[in-house]
Amino acid sequence: MKKNIILIGFMGVGKGTTARAYAQRYNCFNIDTDDLIESKENKKIKEIFEENGEAYFRDCEQACANWIELSVDNSFISCGGGFYNVSNLKELGTIVLLDASYEWIYNRLSTAENSKAKLKKRPLFSEPKKAKKLYKEREKAYKKIADVVIDVENKTIKALVKEIHKKAYI
Ligand code: S3P
Repeated sequence: MKKNIILIGFMGVGKGTTARAYAQRYNCFNIDTDDLIESKENKKIKEIFEENGEAYFRDCEQACANWIELSVDNSFISCGGGFYNVSNLKELGTIVLLDASYEWIYNRLSTAENSKAKLKKRPLFSEPKKAKKLYKEREKAYKKIADVVIDVENKTIKALVKEIHKKAYI
């Protein structure tokens, strides 16, 4: 069993922020699947969606998961919101879900200092109605695949990081 922590959850729930805080606090490396895909494709996620389409992006996610399975251990891995669908997720490490209501997520994104940028870089969040539908579709599947579920609402990043370490670190 790999000792990676695999952080999943819906767009905008705070995976990146939490992952960076965790890596700093527990002195480990954090890699992010969107960053890995962007570097391999030499394009932003938004451009991949526009130029190659969503199906191509999902293939990139699977290729990324295969690489992690083969090459990465003892790391903290933050994942794009759709990464939970890769076929080998369970082989990659302990799966931790950051969970919050759609309303909480929407509020977090729309009141962030760099709100416009946060929304712009996420093609699947361009229409809130569609994003809510996607949230509803994924809600159960996220919980089903997760080894650990962490409710993020009303918690500081410091508390979240501590809770993840306590519940998921092997
Ligand atoms: C996606 C989430 C995004 C990114 C891509 C698709 C999704 O990552 O991978 O836009 O399908 O939920 P974040 O969850 O980091 O926004």
